[in-house]
Amino acid sequence: MKYEPAFFEIFLTRIAFLFFGRSVYQGFADRLPLDGGERVLDFGSGMGTVAYYVAEKLPRGRLICLDISERWLNACRKTLRGYENISFRHWETPELIDECFDVVYCHYVLHDISESELKKVIAVLAEALKPGGVFAFREPLYEGDKIKVIKSLIEENGLGLKESRITDIPLLGNALENFYIK
Ligand SMILES: C[S@@+](CC[C@H](N)C(=O)[O-])C[C@H]1O[C@@H](n2cnc3c(N)ncnc32)[C@H](O)[C@@H]1O
Repeated sequence: MKYEPAFFEIFLTRIAFLFFGRSVYQGFADRLPLDGGERVLDFGSGMGTVAYYVAEKLPRGRLICLDISERWLNACRKTLRGYENISFRHWETPELIDECFDVVYCHYVLHDISESELKKVIAVLAEALKPGGVFAFREPLYEGDKIKVIKSLIEENGLGLKESRITDIPLLGNALENFYIK
């Protein structure tokens, strides 16, 4: 379902990012397998919280920030202004992505998507990965039932679990981080 945030929500998120961005998002970005030349998709980029730390790791690569919300995507453009290795994509329905990626990641996105839409979304994201590519997610641990659905859909789409960890994130609490290989 399409959702546009209030401008006040975007403002509060920006303030929180200013103070806690490094401790909340950078660890996840640091664990992505990046050498500098990859093509990477940030699915549900929001205002670019993780993308901000990923962009600087891709001097020869490209990052695509994709979101269903135009307001979040506009906020993301502001966060990442100055970078030339980033494109922004508004994505209203789970349609095929006409590009291939070395890494696709979702940070606090999948648990918000309905089960029926998740089926399409995960199939499209798995399809967009190159063979040997990595799919990573970080989701709140309290969303246990949704996480089970997410994990089984990922495996149904042919991705194999490579690493799994629980992290304790300032402000967000415990989260599950899983990394898969196609
Ligand atoms: C909780 S925010 C997380 C944003 C960012 N990844 C972060 O961790 O700060 C969820 C984001 O996912 C986006 N989103 C939700 N459903 C989506 C969908 N079906 N396709 C693309 N983006 C979606 C929302 O618009 C929002 O920007």
